[in-house]
Amino acid sequence: MSLFISFEGPDGSGKTTQARLLEGWLRQQGYEVVLTREPGGTAIGEQIRQVLHDRRNIEMDARAEVLLYSAARAQLVAQCIRPALEAGYIVISDRYADSTLAYQGYGRGLELDILRAITDFATGGLWPDLTFYLDVTPEEGLHRRRSAGGEWNRLDAEAMDFHHKVRAGYLALAEGDPGRWVIIEATQPVAGVQEQIRRVVAGRLGR
Ligand code: TMP
Repeated sequence: MSLFISFEGPDGSGKTTQARLLEGWLRQQGYEVVLTREPGGTAIGEQIRQVLHDRRNIEMDARAEVLLYSAARAQLVAQCIRPALEAGYIVISDRYADSTLAYQGYGRGLELDILRAITDFATGGLWPDLTFYLDVTPEEGLHRRRSAGGEWNRLDAEAMDFHHKVRAGYLALAEGDPGRWVIIEATQPVAGVQEQIRRVVAGRLGR
């Protein structure tokens, strides 16, 4: 049975860790799983990621930004996600199209309907079956990222106000489609978050 699961949340919400833990758990139970990430996940997508995250590219126009994320997504769907789903795999993506709605739509103020149309063009209308939103405040997310000392990208450098808009956007998206979205309070310990995620996924897999 194929299933397409995405993880969304602000930077520092722990979604990458949670996606990896879920992947390991599903594999242990004998499922075939593909774990991927956005932007990236393919050779072309990873090259586009470098352009998007490069802190020297501060002059990047918001529309150019949308199209680059969408180009990376189109390649990922065509080359990886759609073939895997057709082969019956469970696909887990660390970010997907909702990131565009949250960051470029709610964050940058681009029109949501246009972003949805561009996204549908890029993906052939493919949306996840299940999306986990790992909720932390922008302040907490920033604090965690700083302590972890990981990659510091162009979007991390945005003002706090931008990150608050992104969070409000995610919450609006999640509330608008409760059949797909599950909001998880991500300030809990890692194991507790993972436990909730596994319970929901097990339910979807009919276990
Ligand atoms: P991450 O790989 O650490 O999650 O970082 C990806 C960054 O790119 C993050 O700041 C969110 C941003 N992003 C968008 O703004 N729009 C998108 O469509 C995607 C996929 C990511």
